Amino acid sequence: MNVANENELIQSALDAQKRAYCVYSNFPVGAALLTASGRVYQGVNIENASFGLTICAERVAAAAAVANGDIEFTAIAVVSRTGVSPCGACRQFLAEFAPNLPIVMVDSLQPDVIHRATLDQLLPGRFEGPV
Ligand code: THU
Repeated sequence: MNVANENELIQSALDAQKRAYCVYSNFPVGAALLTASGRVYQGVNIENASFGLTICAERVAAAAAVANGDIEFTAIAVVSRTGVSPCGACRQFLAEFAPNLPIVMVDSLQPDVIHRATLDQLLPGRFEGPV
């Protein structure tokens, strides 16, 4: 991914973050997932009164891509006010499609501070199925 692409992806995640539905945590997260087709899928965290049904921004973005037939993931940007890295469930969910996915993590209060990792660094020894 070149710098132009990375910047666009971060901007897209920052744009998505504004639409997070996080009335319980007040912790908005935005994600933007670039696919091999060149399309970018946005995601936000969507919380629920039951708490446990909350879904993270990363999985929303991944689900949108898959639902649109784009299962070749190229890179994902995740923004939050502390620049968190994806939770364990999201790591496993993303690894289904791209075990080495480049991940860009950004603090939305300091968007110049960018942390980069690959999914295999964040999730070594992922579950690959029963066979
Ligand atoms: N959250 C995400 O959307 N992505 C992450 O990587 C970590 C956590 C959301 C879930 C919940 O709505 C809020 O952040 C606080 O945990």
